[in-house]
Amino acid sequence: METVVSGIRPTGNLHLGNYFGALRNFISMQNEHNCYFFIADYHSLTTHPTPGDLHGNVRQILVEYLAAGLDPEKATLYVQSDVPETAELYLYLNMNAYMGELERCTSFKDKIRQQPENVNAGLLTYPTLMAADILIHRATKVPVGKDQEQHLEMTRTFGNRFNRMYNVEYFPEPQAFNFGNELVKIPGLNGTGKMGKSEGEGNAIYFVDEPEAIRKKVMKAVTDSGPTEPNQPKPEAIQNIFQLMKVVSTPETFNFFDEMYNTCQIRYGDMKKQLAVDMISFTEPMREKIKAISADEAYVSKVARIGKEKAQESAAKTIREVREIIGFKRF
Ligand code: TYM
Repeated sequence: METVVSGIRPTGNLHLGNYFGALRNFISMQNEHNCYFFIADYHSLTTHPTPGDLHGNVRQILVEYLAAGLDPEKATLYVQSDVPETAELYLYLNMNAYMGELERCTSFKDKIRQQPENVNAGLLTYPTLMAADILIHRATKVPVGKDQEQHLEMTRTFGNRFNRMYNVEYFPEPQAFNFGNELVKIPGLNGTGKMGKSEGEGNAIYFVDEPEAIRKKVMKAVTDSGPTEPNQPKPEAIQNIFQLMKVVSTPETFNFFDEMYNTCQIRYGDMKKQLAVDMISFTEPMREKIKAISADEAYVSKVARIGKEKAQESAAKTIREVREIIGFKRF
């Protein structure tokens, strides 16, 4: 049995990228492994949410975890800030994380481009906080999307460095995981890049989106004037729509439109109509469950309380041992 850790930042509602990159793995892994799935609210402070937004966003992800099928009896579901032991480990790891390596991190470079007015130390040390999340439970597997690969590499670096520094074999080497093996990047609808909340209006399909909203977004997805010769490679925007179809539609549907493309008979309007129908039926069951679970105040609070207790038990043990390794002694 492996120990599994992963988290999602509470920046809004979950989209299909979160699902295929992370959540779908959480659901299957909870049956076989010792799993900790959390809501990364410390991480979200790097972009300065207002106190009024923070709690609602955290609650929404917890509700969506449950609606997606995470079972609090099987996996530990918790809120990151309910386990301040994480922040303590983050402090220790920061002592052995070097400016140069943190500055070279791709997500840091992206962020300073996106928010040049707010280049805070939390952004720089984002990878050490993420390493703390993973190492606090001494995890070996971390289900994430492709964009988190470099963070996992840094987690291994920090864990190994700690082991070397104190001459122990305490932290295992956690590996990024996806059950299709290759880590995935789900594209968005605006032609380039990944599906994500910060990638522009209409780019992401959320589980809470009503059918009409999904239809509108999909029909607006970027396409081109179509292939002029058979069997040509697809341009990025077209490739993206096909990739989305691959994850939500049946193989027959995908193959039909692929064949249409290769024989220059494709009509993107038809393809998008079909994609919208398939996305609506894919998201439908979860949309209904989100509404039902969200209305059950007592259940949601109970899940968070139980999760906090279980996660703290594991985290407190690690912190006790780490303090001993570092050389802190009780008087
Ligand atoms: P976040 O909140 O940006 O995204 C949550 C998870 O969803 C995946 N994801 C995607 N996968 C494929 N295609 C996409 N378009 C797509 N968009 C998002 C992400 O890869 C991620 O797995 N730093 C993390 C949160 C975090 C964490 C951790 C994860 C904090 N501590 C410890 C694992 C372990 C983040 O910002 O993910």
